[in-house]
Amino acid sequence: MSVPRLGVGLQFNPELIGWFPFLDQPLDALEILFDSVMSPLDGPGLISPRAVDLMRDITDKYPLLGHSNYGGDFGFDDLMSTAAVRRHVPLSQKFNVSSVANHCFYGDASWSDVWSSPLQFSRAEAVRVAARARALQDLYGVPLAHENAAYYRVCPGSDMPEEEFLARMLELSGTYLHLDLHNLYANEQNHRARGYSIHRFLSTIPLDRIITIHMAGGRWINGQYHDLHDTQVAEAVWGLLDDVLSRARPGAVILEYETQSLYCNGEMADTGRTTDLILSDLERGRAAWDRAYGRASRRTTRSEAA
Ligand SMILES: [Fe+2]
Repeated sequence: MSVPRLGVGLQFNPELIGWFPFLDQPLDALEILFDSVMSPLDGPGLISPRAVDLMRDITDKYPLLGHSNYGGDFGFDDLMSTAAVRRHVPLSQKFNVSSVANHCFYGDASWSDVWSSPLQFSRAEAVRVAARARALQDLYGVPLAHENAAYYRVCPGSDMPEEEFLARMLELSGTYLHLDLHNLYANEQNHRARGYSIHRFLSTIPLDRIITIHMAGGRWINGQYHDLHDTQVAEAVWGLLDDVLSRARPGAVILEYETQSLYCNGEMADTGRTTDLILSDLERGRAAWDRAYGRASRRTTRSEAA
């Protein structure tokens, strides 16, 4: 399987829709969160009625990538009963995405508290999860990449480092990696004392399996670093991007932003300031891509030349 070389884009996050001018941006790619546009599993249809017009606008304008957070991809429900198979797979075909990423979390139909439930990094789980990953990729018919998680605690029963688990899983599954550089950074902040090392992580995973990259920011709250996506991309993450672009050949770099977490702290999001912040990060991302591969390698610049 192969992925197109697209360039630098954004995640189409529902929290930004309505105020961030997505359609005015020269994005090389747009990442769709399947969970935010799908219709409920217990109802008819495939796309949520409120997302139909929105999706029509963007499918005409941008190359799309797919992303699954709550598909139950790696939970214990029968795979064919999951949202991943019943909604995400047909959505990926409808939107003609060039690849799909899913999260290395547990979750099932009754429980989607995925952010605190990283996979158990064990030899047994590598085998079980790889079988589900392979089956899912066959259903999608496009490359399926797994996103390394930011987590607060390692799952009980883990018997190997995360990077060895991912490398083993990919060896068995024939699937790919979606490398979230801010998740690496967050984990190093929170787990340095138990030996977590980004350097070791990147030395262990198969870099040639990285097909997409996430960039984000976050912050410290009460002694814990959180992957909140509510700031500019963290400064250290830009350094990681240069390093990974020099050693891997991903098809796209996607920037992620949220604002909900601001409201949780009683703060108000400043949409004007946040728009400027996102546009400035996009410029910086495009500059990093162009330094690594040349300006003509990005989709929008190729389109301009044509
Ligand atoms: Fe991410």
